[in-house]
Amino acid sequence: MRILVLGSGAREHALAWKLGQEPAVDYLVCAPGNAGMQSGVAPLDPLDTDAVVRFVRRDRIDLTVVGPEAPLGRGLADRLQAEGLRVFGPTKAAAQLETSKAFAKDFMQRHAVPTARYRVCGSADEAIAAIRSGEFGDALVVKADGLAAGKGVVVAPDRATAESAVRSAMVDRSFGDAGARVVLEELLQGPEVSFFVIADGENYVPLLSAQDHKRIFDNDEGPNTGGMGAFSPSPLMTAALQEQIERDIVQPVLRGMAGEGTPFRGFLYCGLMLTADGPKVIEFNVRFGDPEAQVVLPLLVEPLAPLLLAASEARLSGSGLRAPEPGSRRASVGVVLAAHGYPGDPRSGDVITGLADVARDCPDVLVFHAGVKARGADLVTAGGRVLTVVATAPSFEIAIARAYEAAGKIRFEGMQYRRDIGAKALSID
Ligand code: AMP
Ligand code: GLY
Repeated sequence: MRILVLGSGAREHALAWKLGQEPAVDYLVCAPGNAGMQSGVAPLDPLDTDAVVRFVRRDRIDLTVVGPEAPLGRGLADRLQAEGLRVFGPTKAAAQLETSKAFAKDFMQRHAVPTARYRVCGSADEAIAAIRSGEFGDALVVKADGLAAGKGVVVAPDRATAESAVRSAMVDRSFGDAGARVVLEELLQGPEVSFFVIADGENYVPLLSAQDHKRIFDNDEGPNTGGMGAFSPSPLMTAALQEQIERDIVQPVLRGMAGEGTPFRGFLYCGLMLTADGPKVIEFNVRFGDPEAQVVLPLLVEPLAPLLLAASEARLSGSGLRAPEPGSRRASVGVVLAAHGYPGDPRSGDVITGLADVARDCPDVLVFHAGVKARGADLVTAGGRVLTVVATAPSFEIAIARAYEAAGKIRFEGMQYRRDIGAKALSID
């Protein structure tokens, strides 16, 4: 099988690493990829649909796996399908589960999927009146409807903060058209867990759970980021809880999407809050998480390519494939090394050293590359999140120690990373 992975981050590096070692895969290319990837890369813009189609034909690609949400939101999967080409990732209509929070909330309401109480507002006046009415209490959550690069959500401790979030999104248009509508939500309490499945439009295979660390500083302080590290599986995810999530969330979502004529095919990322009233959906993503993919994929003992291919052909059921399971209760911890300035304007061009030491001295450690580029013989920083250092081990304690030992060997000017990735897993364990 010849596979194209679209995207350029550590998530795509992890996908390429996993797929590239599987017997069914005899050719793998990542586009545009990055300079740190070992497998082949090709200069191709995933948002340039015509160029992707030409590349897939010319390179005789059997399956295109789409990493990020933006090309899916623009209809790349629709186009590839229309051309008779296999793609793993949802259509534009199905991708609305991520690209429109208003769509996702209304959809969940239609299908009785547990989520926070909400109101969709089409104008700032309407939103401010709803905030002042107190229907969500004093603390509430304000979300720009569309894609806002992870910056569109404000958890407001009081009404004044909520009102200024509404003005920023709807009047100042800080996120462009993504703020044409906002969703107001009740504030939920509880630990956050992500759960992933591979869906073929009707059937699905569960992957593992994970927990992300979104804030830049230890103890979940400071501004939000794309994710500073993750661990998998979440010790909170018992068999009973997983069964409940599949029954009350995953299955009604897939049935509902199919029933509405927009079957969901791809990675379904369920961002959940475990509240006193049970698990509730905070958000859906229509692709794998970053950095969650980097910690989940190294735990999968079964090959991924046959699953993705079966899903792309809507034949996950009856394929005889079973859900991948982690080996003897292995734990995975991934620490993101970020550039100077992140999550604001990251600085480029800082020389990265120590990668060869990690490769030589750290067994069971993988380094997935994201914001890196080549300069002469060096790799230098070229983006906010630069590397994800992942360790797998028989316990979280050992995985944490291994990940940080490896991270300590890597250096670049201005390097920032959290020292507490995985600590939550220990406190739960
Ligand atoms: P999102 O971009 O939708 O993932 O939201 C970003 C973060 O905001 C989430 O990871 C949660 O920590 C928080 N959040 C979103 N919605 C809620 C809610 N209804 N209650 C509490 N926290 C929330
Ligand atoms: N780590 C969060 C995300 O991928 O959206």
